[in-house]
Amino acid sequence: MRKFLMLFCALTISLNLFGQGGMWLPVLIENHIKDMQKGGFKLSAEEVYSVNKACMKDAVVLFGGGCTGEIVSDKGLLLTNHHCGRGEIVSHSTLEHDYLTEGFWAKSLSQEIPCKGLNVKILDRMIELPGDEEERKKAVEKYKNTLEGVFEFTVEKLYAGNLWYLFVYKSFNDVRLVGAPPSAVGNFGGDTDNWMWPRHGGDFSIFRIYADKNNNPTTGYSKDNVPYKPKHHFKISLKGVEKDDFTMVFGFPGTTEEYLPAVAVKAYKDQNYPARIFCRQTRMELMSEAINADRQVRLKYTSIYAGAENAKKKWEGSVLGLNRFDVVKQKIHAENALKSDSEVKNILSEYEKIYSEKYKFIMADAYFYESVYQTAQFKIGEKAFALSQIDTETSPQAVVNKAQEILKKTLSFFSARDSALERKIFTALYKIYSDSCAEFMPKNLKEICSANALKTAEDFVNYYYKNSVLSDSTRLKNIVAKYVYLEKNAKKFEKNISDFVELIKNDVGIKYYLEPLRVYLQQIMPEINAFESQTEKLDKDYQGLLMKLSPETIKFPDANSTLRFTFGKVDSYIPRDGVIYNYYTTLDGVIEKDNPKIYDYNVPEKLKKLYQSKDYGRYADKDGKIHVCFIATNHTTGGNSGSPVVNANGELIGINFDRCWEGTMSDIMYNKEICRNISVDIRYVLFLIEKLGGADNLIKEMEIVN
Ligand code: ARG
Ligand code: ASP
Repeated sequence: MRKFLMLFCALTISLNLFGQGGMWLPVLIENHIKDMQKGGFKLSAEEVYSVNKACMKDAVVLFGGGCTGEIVSDKGLLLTNHHCGRGEIVSHSTLEHDYLTEGFWAKSLSQEIPCKGLNVKILDRMIELPGDEEERKKAVEKYKNTLEGVFEFTVEKLYAGNLWYLFVYKSFNDVRLVGAPPSAVGNFGGDTDNWMWPRHGGDFSIFRIYADKNNNPTTGYSKDNVPYKPKHHFKISLKGVEKDDFTMVFGFPGTTEEYLPAVAVKAYKDQNYPARIFCRQTRMELMSEAINADRQVRLKYTSIYAGAENAKKKWEGSVLGLNRFDVVKQKIHAENALKSDSEVKNILSEYEKIYSEKYKFIMADAYFYESVYQTAQFKIGEKAFALSQIDTETSPQAVVNKAQEILKKTLSFFSARDSALERKIFTALYKIYSDSCAEFMPKNLKEICSANALKTAEDFVNYYYKNSVLSDSTRLKNIVAKYVYLEKNAKKFEKNISDFVELIKNDVGIKYYLEPLRVYLQQIMPEINAFESQTEKLDKDYQGLLMKLSPETIKFPDANSTLRFTFGKVDSYIPRDGVIYNYYTTLDGVIEKDNPKIYDYNVPEKLKKLYQSKDYGRYADKDGKIHVCFIATNHTTGGNSGSPVVNANGELIGINFDRCWEGTMSDIMYNKEICRNISVDIRYVLFLIEKLGGADNLIKEMEIVN
């Protein structure tokens, strides 16, 4: 197999066409460097990836598990997206110091804020492993025992298991918040502009990596830790970009599924995505109404809404693109061309069989997740269920304590939500659930409905609110207080507790949690597991065959949160007939969108003043404007947020943060006509740090070149 792989890798050298997408393995940079150089890249392969020499990869980090960041100073200063750092920014915000709204700028190391639990990993190297499981285990042990340094290891399968690699990381756990623009800048455009071009967000935040005195990673914060001294950091270019300029993105893309058979793409496009979109649309419309009517609701639901919206809008874009380019037909065409090979033919018909037999379970899973799991009532049920599971054999005091602990968690969930809104969502989602999952409706819930003549979702929800002690927080608190307290008479105590457990167990709110879950665990999950283990095996065989028979169609392994680079060029695109989108946006556009009445477009006064006075320092483009964002043909996905975008000299020109909506199908099939990554122009970032934040200290620390 390995010999074959080498042949395969060699074959792909000549097949990579510039700007055709691809998330390449840094260790195989040699295969691409000529192509990159043809596109204008000036660096050598070794300057991008090397084990022995300091190189670009040493300045790229996996940030917080799901994003990317880049090191921009010799003192471990790190840039990533605002939406990647948002959790930290929010968690350190209080009413007095609202860093989310006002922004935050540490003017010295001592002002930097430790972020407990935030982890950053830097890849030290990646090593190919044997395909054979036993041999692989041995090899991993060998490397673990012989590599010198403080490392973390992961074993990753590529090409669905046709290729294996050991990833060796330095893993840092003292990372501190250094800066963030106000969210009206960092998240400008909010959910309205999300996934869209033209875009005007200043989506960045700043952190710093700390190490021990020997520059080694630590397991957490210590006041004795010092800024990490990286092997390499990015220089920052003030030159900006022109159409057709070479760009490269280096980061940790999460998941792609580029080698799905046609039947799978069709299932996504026609069944899975539309169902999920419909559920989310329903939920989001209700949330949006309430958010706009009430500030308190906005606070509670902003991130829930953003989470729901982010995936939904991406699926919508994907459906659009998959239809527009008739990806299913393209796939069928490619499959037909290979079907003369009997193994391919068998695999494809196996896929067809599994999809036709088992896809209804995948859909049941989708509906369960979107229409049951997403209701507050399900989550309250889940929390409160623990009340019926308390170990009553322990001391009365322990029983009371445990009940109080569970109650506290449940009540805090109640207060994080808005009960009127949740009732509406429950009604709407219950309707979808009972309409779309008739086959998987729990018997027990059906019985409740028929025994009580509950015909509609409204009927069921009214019944729930009338009968469940979980329907409001005071009711739940009172019930716990009534039964679970320290009662001297042991018999009475016991009786109270067993009455209480009975009451909780029989509560319709608990049933609404337990019964769908039971159906899920007993009827849906085993089928999904079977589906997955079968498709996993088919994927491995199918991709292995593609590598052999049609290497030009399987040039890179699907993304799996391992370090990849991708390259392309700055380019405009045609979103739909008759419209061309320019490749960059400017501060003019921020001001055009300004509207204090619309939450997502409320430009801070200070930024408006800077715009009026044209106080741009050295950060304006040669056209005299501040350029805000730009797009290019780099093949990126979720996880690439925060990735460094570099120019032909390997200098930082932007921070990647999103993709254009019309091209989000790139997770399934990249198309250079329509797929664009969106980056914030690094000059806008510097302008904001210096002029809006006044953090000259940070500017001085970076290496800025012309
Ligand atoms: N679309 C971006 C990526 O998938 C996320 C942007 C976050 N912002 C938002 N308004 N939801 O992660
Ligand atoms: N916004 C995504 C991220 O957070 C990037 C993308 O999907 O293009 O990683």
